[in-house]
Amino acid sequence: MADEDVRIDPWSSTQSTDYARIRDQFGLSELPLHRIPEPSMLHRRGIIFAHRGFNTVLDAMERGEPFGVLTGLMPSGRMHLGHTLVIEQIRWLQSRGADVTITVADLESLATRGTSLKQGRQVAMNEYISNYPALGLDPERTSVYFQSRRPIVQRLGFVLGEKTNRSTMESIYGFDGTTNLAHVQAPLVQAGDILHPQLEEYGGLRPIVVPVGIDQDPHIRFTRDLATSTNWFNINRRKNGGVTIALSIQPGNHGVFGVDTNGRVDMQVRRQFFDRLIERLNNDGWSDMIPNPKHGTLEIPAATEQSSQQLKHALLGIERELGGLGLLPPTSTYHRFAVGLTGDKMSSSNPETTIFLDDEEKAVVKKIKEAFSGGRETVEEHRRHGGDTDKDVAFQYLTTFFEPDDLVLADIGRAYREGTMLSGQLKQHCIDSALEWLKDFKERRDSTRSLSEMMLADDSL
Ligand code: TRP
Repeated sequence: MADEDVRIDPWSSTQSTDYARIRDQFGLSELPLHRIPEPSMLHRRGIIFAHRGFNTVLDAMERGEPFGVLTGLMPSGRMHLGHTLVIEQIRWLQSRGADVTITVADLESLATRGTSLKQGRQVAMNEYISNYPALGLDPERTSVYFQSRRPIVQRLGFVLGEKTNRSTMESIYGFDGTTNLAHVQAPLVQAGDILHPQLEEYGGLRPIVVPVGIDQDPHIRFTRDLATSTNWFNINRRKNGGVTIALSIQPGNHGVFGVDTNGRVDMQVRRQFFDRLIERLNNDGWSDMIPNPKHGTLEIPAATEQSSQQLKHALLGIERELGGLGLLPPTSTYHRFAVGLTGDKMSSSNPETTIFLDDEEKAVVKKIKEAFSGGRETVEEHRRHGGDTDKDVAFQYLTTFFEPDDLVLADIGRAYREGTMLSGQLKQHCIDSALEWLKDFKERRDSTRSLSEMMLADDSL
């Protein structure tokens, strides 16, 4: 990375806001708004601005096929506005048919913040999970589990550990010789979190989306690479059209693929395997395949870009029948950083930077009054030159959290930029909307609190 490049890692992120540049630099795709049915205000306003592989989820949505969403929470601190951003996205995905899995990252919290498991459980229940029904999650279709109580995510993390090494983890996460080993394990357990919903007992093969802040992208890339490196079949595009399927020889598939203990290919076993593979793919409707058992490749000249996604599913299914994991890479969407009220990073350790869901009205009024403004020094200057809605935190909070009506928001923005609306007036609008939002939320929470227990998975009761 060049010096001027944006550097982002999950534990200490800079606050770059040039999102188009971030998207290009990280190799993310632009969110295809035209494909998003009944987009939420977060989509419409460009707050969710990029993705990796999300097309596969949109395909499933369009075809009425299953897909899931997963997120994780760190059980430390109090729940604040920033945390609602992901929950709102989960709510939207759930309304479009997604099954919902939520991880309480109690092991990660133990490793990176010194939170005991008991403490983590209390905080998770009282501060986070009890708010979810009031934020719109359907308690009957939401499954919350604790990392420490679901051994499969730890086992999967361990198994995936074989596919990476120290240099990779050092370069992605900035780990060095002094990093404690629990911290090193946390990303692997998290990869286990993200991938395990695809296992048969947790819903089976289907695309999963993980909505995250842009600072979490290293985890996503890491997990996508791990998933791909477990695959027994790689699909590569051919120069003249179509695809080539190539066997990926790994310790777990030597027997199946006809590789003996010396690494030599047993051609009889290999040919038999190819015959079975071709027969299976034939049954799925694929034809005109050119096998090269010796090289471990199978060409399908007629496969198109579109159909290769179905081919991938078929091959992952076959891999599972043969004893492999058969994992799709997770997909992701990225939302912007929620800026802190002070204009700095939003953080629960600096209470003045955010609004907690249980803040008193008085505190909320004070925080917004003192929020970083995009107004001018004097009223006169403001009237003449107008305010800056990109910098104004009250305006950002209306955009991201509190003003659901696009037309109202546009009117406020225009008036502020033209100088007819003053900073104090804009802040007052934000205060009114925030108090109404919080009042609604608190009412709903009081009536739905008891429903949150329903969300706990059996292994986490
Ligand atoms: N690392 C995440 C955080 O710091 C928590 C987390 C654990 C997570 N497992 C996850 C997030 C799976 C998304 C998906 O907040």
